[in-house]
Amino acid sequence: MTDQAPAPDIAFPGETMGDLPGKPTAASRTTLSHIMSHNDTNLLGTVHGGVIMKLVDDAAGAVAGRHSGGPAVTASMDEMAFLEPVRVGDLVHVKAQVNWTGRTSMEIGVRVLAERWNESAPPTQVGSAYLVFAAVDADGKPRRVPPVIPETERDKRRYQEAQIRRTHRLARRRAIKELRERRTAESQED
Ligand SMILES: CC(C)(COP(=O)(O)OP(=O)(O)OC[C@H]1O[C@@H](n2cnc3c(N)ncnc32)[C@H](O)[C@@H]1OP(=O)(O)O)[C@@H](O)C(=O)NCCC(=O)NCCS
Repeated sequence: MTDQAPAPDIAFPGETMGDLPGKPTAASRTTLSHIMSHNDTNLLGTVHGGVIMKLVDDAAGAVAGRHSGGPAVTASMDEMAFLEPVRVGDLVHVKAQVNWTGRTSMEIGVRVLAERWNESAPPTQVGSAYLVFAAVDADGKPRRVPPVIPETERDKRRYQEAQIRRTHRLARRRAIKELRERRTAESQED
């Protein structure tokens, strides 16, 4: 008897999507590092959340561009969590990888770690985020992306979790769209 929920039945992508060969997660995994200075602080003296979000978007954008082999734009950013304050003098590492790929979009998972710039203590996790990027062509129209090939057990878990988030994002968008259409129709009846 176990109280663990069974893993969702989610198929991993094949080695190709049409004529696009797949790429392993490791091929585009990226780390962006930055030492925080006084220019990065908010009125409380700790680092501004927007500074961290910019680094997160930059790192995720680099991963999306590398994986898709061209330009990619941020479609959404969700579940940005700030777990600990970041201080001036912290060396921040933003680690990003492709968690999941669809037809033209990719979910990029990001972990934010911080350590004192001049100490050798191990870094602590201070934040995390999930972003969806869409690969675009020269006209800004979505273009197909290679399927990501999750290699390790951790990559496979992240792929399955990303698929669950994708299902929820689509369901939420659809429900809100339907509600707005219903309310618009009702207000026209008045
Ligand atoms: C993102 C963008 C290219 C989507 O274009 P679109 O004409 O709506 O195209 P689609 O509906 O086919 O969406 C393309 C893909 O993105 C996904 N997507 C679009 N909007 C999304 C959202 N808000 N959240 C999650 N995924 C989204 C779609 O599910 C689709 O993925 P799939 O092909 O893997 O199934 C377009 O909305 C855009 O250019 N947005 C501005 C991006 C930008 O400027 N970012 C920087 C902000 S400063």
